[in-house]
Amino acid sequence: MKIRSFRWPDYDAVAEVWAAAAREVVPRAELVRKLTRDPELFLVSLAGDRVTGVVMGTFDGRRGWILRLAVDPAHRRQGIAGALVRELESRLRALDCPRINLLVMPDNAAGLRFWQSVGYLPMPDVLCTKPL
Ligand SMILES: CC(C)(COP(=O)(O)OP(=O)(O)OC[C@H]1O[C@@H](n2cnc3c(N)ncnc32)[C@H](O)[C@@H]1OP(=O)(O)O)[C@@H](O)C(=O)NCCC(=O)NCCS
Repeated sequence: MKIRSFRWPDYDAVAEVWAAAAREVVPRAELVRKLTRDPELFLVSLAGDRVTGVVMGTFDGRRGWILRLAVDPAHRRQGIAGALVRELESRLRALDCPRINLLVMPDNAAGLRFWQSVGYLPMPDVLCTKPL
């Protein structure tokens, strides 16, 4: 397994992994803007040339955030998500990021189990949001 930063030729394969994992696909235009900031925090895992997993990190100068983690259903339970998260943590540590947050839907039992297995514990905060 290889992990590296996202490159544009990966986009269609990444979109397929998100779709297969029932995650919303980030449109190209949004990714263009995201990649003007911390592009080294958007990672893919590969088996040969095939994209098997993806994770998108951000750093706001105070906290790191992990978004859109997904692994192709055919490649699950092989440690791919764990490896993606470890690499992202290492890159955030290199930026002196002291804490990482993320959001999981409360009914995503597998997701919660995964996050707990890599040390992320639930907090009582409630997500609030407003479109601009
Ligand atoms: C959650 C997800 C990213 C895990 O990917 P993965 O590559 O299969 O995870 P790993 O192989 O690194 O799993 C590491 C550990 O997490 C836990 N885990 C992972 N998937 C699990 C599941 N379906 N049920 C219970 N525990 C699970 C286990 O402890 C596992 O270790 P083990 O296989 O030795 O028992 C993947 O199932 C996925 O893409 N799900 C859909 C999208 C999603 O829910 N994303 C995360 C929420 S934001």
